[in-house]
Amino acid sequence: MPSIRENLDNWDNLGKWTKDGDEWSESWGSSATMWAGTILPRIGACLPASDLVEIACGHGRVTQFLLPLCERYRGFDLAPSCVATCKGRFADRAHASFAGTDGSSLPGIGTASVDFVFSWDSLVHAERDAMVGYVREIGRVLRPGGTAFLHHSTMADHADAAGKLTLANPHWRGVTVSAGSVRSDAEAAGLRVVVQELVTWGSPTLSDCFSLLHKPVAVAAPKGEPTLLRNTNFNSELAYLFEIDRHYRGALRR
Ligand SMILES: C[S@@+](CC[C@H](N)C(=O)[O-])C[C@H]1O[C@@H](n2cnc3c(N)ncnc32)[C@H](O)[C@@H]1O
Repeated sequence: MPSIRENLDNWDNLGKWTKDGDEWSESWGSSATMWAGTILPRIGACLPASDLVEIACGHGRVTQFLLPLCERYRGFDLAPSCVATCKGRFADRAHASFAGTDGSSLPGIGTASVDFVFSWDSLVHAERDAMVGYVREIGRVLRPGGTAFLHHSTMADHADAAGKLTLANPHWRGVTVSAGSVRSDAEAAGLRVVVQELVTWGSPTLSDCFSLLHKPVAVAAPKGEPTLLRNTNFNSELAYLFEIDRHYRGALRR
């Protein structure tokens, strides 16, 4: 059960980052292919953004692709060493700033000031306390009409009535979070859940979820049921992109 404290201890350690996060893109072949093949098709309609917030920027693996697509970028991370790394790596980007967070809030971000909130490959390790806090914050900071894309755990779908997991948790997913819990947290925060896509992550289990949340423009906006996708082909999506990356990018690298 990864607590905020355990996440801090785990990630605030430069020895953990052998290639600034690119090491976690190896299933795609490269971070560029992960971005172009997996992330961008899912968030392209939200970009470019005038004011973008990234939760858990790490060492900037996805940040590098977000920066050209916004007028103002603000990145947060729990780990001070990640904030320091991004400050150094992107020091020449005048429209970007990086700050620490307590693991569940977005300090210094004004109410209704942001177009797009994004998080990738990070909140999968968050438990419900962190998710409740962030989703509430997203409801506060998004402008009406703004959107958020969150990659989070849905391991609580695989727990028994006592909350005990019925299968292995090799990728250190939060065990108290599910697509359903994020849906109810979003609704409580005044957000509409547009899409939830359950995906596999290196195993046959639908362990992860991508949630696209929208802050309605009108108070009495129509609700509509979210689209729920059970994407058991996600590992194949990566395998296909890996082959494309190998033959094109890889050929140029050789
Ligand atoms: C696997 S790394 C991924 C970083 C980056 N998003 C990427 O794709 O390379 C996980 C990151 O999540 C951050 N993190 C974990 N829990 C967090 C929380 N509750 N709030 C903010 N950052 C968190 C860690 O400090 C770490 O930088």
